[in-house]
Amino acid sequence: MDRLLPPVVGHRGAAADAPENTLASLRLAAEQGVKMVEFDAKLTGDGVAILMHDDRLERTTTGQGPVAAAPWAEIRQLDAGAWFGPAWRGIGVPSLEETLALLVELDLNANIEIKPCPGRAVETAEAIVKAVGGHWPRNRPGLVLSSFARESLATARDAAPAVPRGLLLWKKPADWSAAAVALDCCAVHCAAQYLTPEWAAEIKRLGYDLAVYTVNDPVFAWQLRDWGVDSIITDSPGAMGTALHGW
Ligand code: G3P
Ligand code: MG
Repeated sequence: MDRLLPPVVGHRGAAADAPENTLASLRLAAEQGVKMVEFDAKLTGDGVAILMHDDRLERTTTGQGPVAAAPWAEIRQLDAGAWFGPAWRGIGVPSLEETLALLVELDLNANIEIKPCPGRAVETAEAIVKAVGGHWPRNRPGLVLSSFARESLATARDAAPAVPRGLLLWKKPADWSAAAVALDCCAVHCAAQYLTPEWAAEIKRLGYDLAVYTVNDPVFAWQLRDWGVDSIITDSPGAMGTALHGW
């Protein structure tokens, strides 16, 4: 049976080699041979789902201030490539809708991380589910919604129960398995810094797919495989795919 998550997932596209969370990064990940990309989705001030990691615009765009305070008409004018290098100048912030269209065109699967700005967990999940409903072909597999925000996962569970969910974790919470059951998750996505062989075995024993982020060292990735990890979320999907050949 095919697993929900492939052995290698491109983090924010191919974040080591292209500006994260842009269409260029997703295209490059596809060119590097990966079957699935992870990216972060949140809302503009006026409720448009876009790809962006931070709650503020400064680090990855030419804009300033909170994402939640800027309308889409303003954000779509920003440069989201220049910070990464002159060769990437002129690349914009993508909407989730145009991203989904590109993924279908590239035959690329997606782990959409629902990354709400503070106080927007429910509306962010609702908007993402709506975009998925309108732009991801019905019955096309290969989509996983994950989040650290349990309210977002609960909203996704209720609004689109058929789309698989992954519980994103950092340090091990005492209630992680209760949360995974309550949110009806198929996968658990753990931080490489905090996963232990014991915890990995527990996750696998309970029947979840196990993804680990963000792993750029192939030696560590092979060790994680021995722990039972199913999927490596990496900034360098091409190099990792080559290194994990035979996984
Ligand atoms: O989805 C895995 C990983 O992306 C979670 O952390 O901060 O890189 O979005 P972050
Ligand atoms: Mg992420």
